[in-house]
Amino acid sequence: MHPFSQTILDWYACNGRDLPWRRTQDPYAVWLSEIILQQTRIVQGMDYWKRFLKRFPTVQDLAAASEDEVMRLWEGLGYYSRARNLHAAAQQIVTLGAFPTTLEGISSLKGVGDYTAAAIGSICFGLPAAVVDGNVYRVLARHFGVETPVGTTAAKKEFTALAQRLLPPGEASAFNQGMMDFGALQCTPQNPDCLTCPLQASCHAFRTGRQGVLPVKKAAAQVQERHLSYVYVRFNGETAIRKRPAGDIWQGLWEPLRLPVGAGNDASHAAFSEDALQLLRKGVKHQLTHRTLIADFYLWEPVQRPQLPEGYIWIQETELDRYGKPRLFEKLLEAIAGLGRQ
Ligand code: ADE
Ligand code: SF4
Repeated sequence: MHPFSQTILDWYACNGRDLPWRRTQDPYAVWLSEIILQQTRIVQGMDYWKRFLKRFPTVQDLAAASEDEVMRLWEGLGYYSRARNLHAAAQQIVTLGAFPTTLEGISSLKGVGDYTAAAIGSICFGLPAAVVDGNVYRVLARHFGVETPVGTTAAKKEFTALAQRLLPPGEASAFNQGMMDFGALQCTPQNPDCLTCPLQASCHAFRTGRQGVLPVKKAAAQVQERHLSYVYVRFNGETAIRKRPAGDIWQGLWEPLRLPVGAGNDASHAAFSEDALQLLRKGVKHQLTHRTLIADFYLWEPVQRPQLPEGYIWIQETELDRYGKPRLFEKLLEAIAGLGRQ
């Protein structure tokens, strides 16, 4: 075993985090945790993981649920394609008859990429597959002095090969989770704790003072901004929403009327003059992965029931909780609720 790997295993034995999904080997529960943790912090993901397992104790329960219910339970976690894939994968597993136990089988599940397959395979079945994510890039780049810019195909190949070579036989689960925790607790992005680090003596970055430079990053792409207006219509205790269509963000979630500037928008069909709108909040920022949304929120209380644009439905305002909503819509509802308190 490489001394690096022995150090990670020893460190993990003393410092590994006590996380609830580490107390089970049920592949369903572990898979669920890995999907949630793909783009979510542990503290936030923990409640969702518990809530999902409570509502859906088995993969059969999840497979049998409606997509709407799954989306609703996922609400607030973001990256909603994960929820749709989760639901579809549950149905794949039920069709297979059991959770797949090979790397190839696990990878064939919707929403499971290389990282997640390696995590589930190693944790549940001891498969010798190394996980490679931002933590692993960082620890390996610093310790071994790898200068390849991360986020490139070349880097993925190189770091995967290195991690795979370091994977100790029979200890894939502890090594992988040790790397996750080591990257999260010891060799952190800012201010790694080099002074207490058991790898200090062999660490390239420590020796050369390059912790701040490694891992080398590719120049970041420009984040785009997109402006939009949301109009909360209120008529007779009802409001109008629509389910977002396939092929764009927030697919399957519900949103209020939109008023993009320009022709052909939803609200042009709803025939209101802009002076009937009450501005609630302006310039609310909402960060997506590659884009910043900047939203204006309006309230519209028409005197007659308006004709809705295609795809919209009327619902009782009191029933809004029953619809999965993007976080931005929740912010609009908070603005509406704040109005009542003034
Ligand atoms: N991030 C992704 N998977 C994880 C796991 N199993 N433990 C801790 N952090 C993680
Ligand atoms: Fe990371 Fe510092 Fe340890 Fe090197 S010495 S592995 S940079 S924490």
